[in-house]
Amino acid sequence: MVSTPLHVLLISGSTRASSTNTSALRTVAATAPDGVEASLYDGLLDLPPFVPGDQPDPAAVESLHTRIAAADAVLFCTPEYAGMIPGSLKNLLEWTVGTGDLNEKPVAWINVAYEGRGDAAVATLRTVLGYVGAEVVDSASSRITVMQPMIGEDGTVADPEVRDRLTAALTALADHVRHGKY
Ligand SMILES: Cc1cc2nc3c(=O)[nH]c(=O)nc-3n(C[C@H](O)[C@H](O)[C@H](O)COP(=O)(O)O)c2cc1C
Repeated sequence: MVSTPLHVLLISGSTRASSTNTSALRTVAATAPDGVEASLYDGLLDLPPFVPGDQPDPAAVESLHTRIAAADAVLFCTPEYAGMIPGSLKNLLEWTVGTGDLNEKPVAWINVAYEGRGDAAVATLRTVLGYVGAEVVDSASSRITVMQPMIGEDGTVADPEVRDRLTAALTALADHVRHGKY
């Protein structure tokens, strides 16, 4: 019996072209284990500022809803700006409140910053994820430092040990979804 692959949506909080956060997720997508499909969300810069109310959602927001709804889980990787998650990621998360896209959705995070950095981004991400009712999978969430020189020509992390740790984070999240608890 062919089981349908699990689908994990990868959301980076960085808008920078050569971002270490996006590179980490690009590596996760490139090294996904059998049975798991991981795809990078690339619409962060297309999302307009959040406007509460019942006017129809702009197309970019509709596409965000569709991508999250189609995912079995979501993996976040975000820089810290001025002591918290970037405004553009907070904006994305605000667009998910009204429709409950992330409610009871298994989610995890990877912190690619150096030791002692990026902790406030993780803390504020957890606050918002808790607020939107997401299920944060702690055992699939971790710090995996990615430094700019580690990024290869293809935009993924070249260091084999770091690549393996990134794949292991995705595998842990997928196992949680499959087995209901981890
Ligand atoms: C405007 C600005 C503010 C920043 N504020 C913080 C901060 O408060 N805490 C922190 O740990 N790093 C801070 N950083 C460092 C970034 O989080 C760090 O460079 C990160 O690696 C950028 O992610 P990226 O490579 O995915 O773009 C800041 C960087 C910028 C440009």
